[in-house]
Amino acid sequence: EKTQPTLIMIFGATGDLAKRKLFPSLYQLYLKGSLSTNFAMLGVGRREWSHDRFKEHVRESLEASSHSKEHIETFIEHSFYQSHDVSDSDSYIQLKTLADQLDETFSLKGNRIFYLAMAPEFFGTITDHLKQDGLTDTDGFCRLVIEKPFGHDLPSASALNKQIRQSFSEEQIYRIDHYLGKEMVQNIEVIRFANAIFEPLWNNRFISNIQITSSETLGVEERGRYYETSGALRDMVQNHMLQMVALLAMEPPINLSTDEIRSEKVRVLRAMRPVEGKEVDEYFVRGQYGSGKVNNEPVDGYRDGENVDSQSNTETFVAGKVLIDNFRWAGVPFFIRTGKRMAVKSTKIVVQFKDIPMNLYYNKEHSLDPNLLVIHIQPDEGVTLHLNAKKTSEGVNTKPVKLSYSASSIDGINTPEAYEKLLYDCIVGDATNFTHWDEVRKSWSYVDKISDHWESTKEESFPNYAPGSMGPERSFKLLSDDGFEWWAVGELDNKK
Ligand code: BG6
Repeated sequence: EKTQPTLIMIFGATGDLAKRKLFPSLYQLYLKGSLSTNFAMLGVGRREWSHDRFKEHVRESLEASSHSKEHIETFIEHSFYQSHDVSDSDSYIQLKTLADQLDETFSLKGNRIFYLAMAPEFFGTITDHLKQDGLTDTDGFCRLVIEKPFGHDLPSASALNKQIRQSFSEEQIYRIDHYLGKEMVQNIEVIRFANAIFEPLWNNRFISNIQITSSETLGVEERGRYYETSGALRDMVQNHMLQMVALLAMEPPINLSTDEIRSEKVRVLRAMRPVEGKEVDEYFVRGQYGSGKVNNEPVDGYRDGENVDSQSNTETFVAGKVLIDNFRWAGVPFFIRTGKRMAVKSTKIVVQFKDIPMNLYYNKEHSLDPNLLVIHIQPDEGVTLHLNAKKTSEGVNTKPVKLSYSASSIDGINTPEAYEKLLYDCIVGDATNFTHWDEVRKSWSYVDKISDHWESTKEESFPNYAPGSMGPERSFKLLSDDGFEWWAVGELDNKK
């Protein structure tokens, strides 16, 4: 399906996200013919750039990211720039004049997407002005795309939401969680609801625990200032990790409409058992990386980073046990863990089934492995089902085997793919893979209780994990106390 004619206005167009993700994604859509040829991209930023300077910037981004360079020049003919002061009405009036002109030149029918790819403190000011200064006053559709973080906690998220809602309705707001654009995250639903064999087992009678790991090898890099106010809990758990929990745990929706799927996800988030006060120390583990060596190269600890307090109490790792109090999941822990500077870059979901009632095949050399369904989100993409089978020619001895499906068409990590899908969805008006305010609200209220406790108690043991490890010791104890172990994500790789 080709998109409608659209003007895509990118605030923060000189920034990193625009360059790394947004231009390449739009270009890919253009190459594939999914983008209507009636489109224009209007970059907006503080810098005093000319159209030509901006076109050069877009060209550099596309040349660096795209295999096919053939149509770069024609794509660039649709790119324009306006320098801008976010709090000055005159600036918006100029922007409106240019937008109206582009609308006419490219026959865009008044359809507009406002993409805020910039510091969140300006979100509210911008949306106020977009409405007051008439930019949303068109005959077509107007949609707002906002990047995370959506607030810093529930009160700030609510205040931001309230402000934005004065200019855009909930249906017009597309809150990005780029994990929802990942191929295999979208596949969770299909694997669950398009197969007869999983859904009957997808509950506390047959599943013993679910593990979600999203580990990164990079440190906080140059994002110290932001990260100090965020930490891994707000940066990864409030959004990406809890979204994956919701997709894994939700009831089958009655159909695939945006509203039905979202309301099932919200029900999961509502059923999560709140963890607060001292209990937090029992259910959640925080970590911070120290200095050390990765591949024999020395690396700095988190506290040595730029714009980071040398005594920082910020966590760069979180592991937690999430319980969902409903009929389906009562008693099944969802273990999550995420962190920076870990041993591997990997996002995997492991669904561990309960042991069979009685093991007929036990012998001293090995016991039976549990059945696992592993969903490989990245870098490899696919699914593996771990079974036990007969060891060839050895009577009744067993061996673990894997049935594998590899969906990987791409090898990259953090490729523009997720953004490409999400941008397309937004242009065609499909909000399914964006987060509704109700989801944001519920996940903040869950996470706030944890951060409240952490902020009120300094973690004396920081730094408590070595770079290149899989996190602090206590994160292993979190599972062993329940009789489980983390499945080593590296070993689960879906080798091609
Ligand atoms: C972002 C976080 O939302 O997700 C980053 O702000 C993190 O800190 C990134 O590195 C991870 O994304 P991905 O797609 O590389 O797993």
